[in-house]
Amino acid sequence: MERELSLISTHVTGLDQALGGGVPQGSIVLVAGTPGTMKSSLIYNIMYHSARVGRRGLYITLEQTTDSLKRAMERMGYPPMDEGKLYLLDLGVLRTALKRAESTKDWVQIIVDIVKEAVAANEYQILALDSMDALYALANFEAPRRELFQLYASLRELGLTTFLVTEIPIGSAKLAQYGEDFLADGIIHLRQVEVGETDVQLRLRCVKMRMMNHAHNSMALTHGDDGFAVTHVLARKK
Ligand SMILES: Nc1ncnc2c1ncn2[C@@H]1O[C@H](COP(=O)(O)OP(=O)(O)OP(=O)(O)O)[C@@H](O)[C@H]1O
Ligand SMILES: [Mg+2]
Repeated sequence: MERELSLISTHVTGLDQALGGGVPQGSIVLVAGTPGTMKSSLIYNIMYHSARVGRRGLYITLEQTTDSLKRAMERMGYPPMDEGKLYLLDLGVLRTALKRAESTKDWVQIIVDIVKEAVAANEYQILALDSMDALYALANFEAPRRELFQLYASLRELGLTTFLVTEIPIGSAKLAQYGEDFLADGIIHLRQVEVGETDVQLRLRCVKMRMMNHAHNSMALTHGDDGFAVTHVLARKK
């Protein structure tokens, strides 16, 4: 008999339905996009609302400080959240941890160890790593594919639902640098699309989501007073 699949809601109007119900618990999902495509906000939104309904989250921000992320999110309409429910961790905190760590340890291992410790102590269910590219810059990989394979294996062992931000340089056709797109269970692709001569729309596409019969089309992603929403993009009239 098929085991019941536990799904995490994205708390984005219309998106759970497009995903076929939500994100399967325990998945590793890439959120890939060019600069400024709301990668961080979208993940924060999922974690913020999940925390409110009892799924604790750990958000590791390597791109911006926790203060800057908190301020940006407050401006977008997410009031401060109890640290016990949604914990933000930045490079400053990690560097302090690094002082404790043996000198031979690498960043990937440090992050895995910190996450393991935090999960054991606080029962986090959702993890964000923002961004993988910042991690690569710190990590000095010698054999990136092998080391990433290890990272994914460690994350899977923890059983968390994980969102990994990957940055796509403008003009690049690749979703990820080292084949993470094949390792991940899900990929959400965000991009800006020029509409007409002056308008730019944000588009979201689920490239893959293992175990789900999801929609494959691009949808418009918006953020307003009611939070995030996706809507179908109407075919352009000829
Ligand atoms: N209420 C809002 N509605 C729409 N867009 C907004 C709103 N508030 C902020 N933004 C825009 O969201 C963008 C930033 O979102 P976010 O930081 O989540 O993107 P990102 O993809 O993580 O960016 P980066 O590539 O810098 O990491 C900014 O360009 C900002 O102008
Ligand atoms: Mg960001």
